[in-house]
Amino acid sequence: MAARRKLIAGNWKMNGLKAEGLQLASDLAGRLQGAGAVPFDMLVCPPFPLLFPVGEAIKGSPLALGGQDCAPKQKGAHTGDTSPAMLKDAGCAYAIVGHSERRQDHGETDAIVAAKAAAAHEEGLVAIVCVGETWAEREAGKAQEVVGRQVAGSLPAGATAANTVVAYEPVWAIGTGKVATPQDVKDMHAFIRKELQARLSDADSVRILYGGSVKPDNAVELLATDNVDGALVGGASLKADDFWAIGTSCR
Ligand code: 13P
Repeated sequence: MAARRKLIAGNWKMNGLKAEGLQLASDLAGRLQGAGAVPFDMLVCPPFPLLFPVGEAIKGSPLALGGQDCAPKQKGAHTGDTSPAMLKDAGCAYAIVGHSERRQDHGETDAIVAAKAAAAHEEGLVAIVCVGETWAEREAGKAQEVVGRQVAGSLPAGATAANTVVAYEPVWAIGTGKVATPQDVKDMHAFIRKELQARLSDADSVRILYGGSVKPDNAVELLATDNVDGALVGGASLKADDFWAIGTSCR
């Protein structure tokens, strides 16, 4: 099996003002630097207005920076949007696309998500493509069907292990304290791996993250699950101690 280095990604969502964001990112960057060799990459995805100051504060450190979304275009008359080129300019190496909150709140379809990922790739950013079923879909026995469709529709042509990470985030586990069971996670990640194998020549090297109520007390088990190559963390990424504890749960 291909060796995949774990990725511990923090999605701050719409939380934090400048002072707190700077403190959190600087704290994590300092811990990473002090820790030396660790078995994981660490990433923070602050709200857009904080990207430049946080990017400046962590420049040169091993802590990576990402956007929580990006536009499917690089510039132009698109009020309120932020392009991948702008993310890169702020020091980002990653862009999350297709988060369920974007899909739900902004009507983003798989086609839109794929266009965003393609635009991120154009700028050399790694796209973290999010997929995940709702509780109703899981109850109806359609979790794999839904996730399979999202994977097929949201990955752009040209996706590789170097430019794409997939994040499985069951919608019902986000911010609810409900975590998918290790068996459910194992089954879904194996299914996603198979779907990737049907599409990408280097599918075995693609990192598949789990997200949804990841906390220090469940991270060890989740991160030890087959095909779980890291975590996409919301709430627990806002506290340096908790986020660091999730990172150091990687074995
Ligand atoms: P929580 O960790 O707060 O459940 O959020 C998960 C998430 O949506 C990360 O993108």
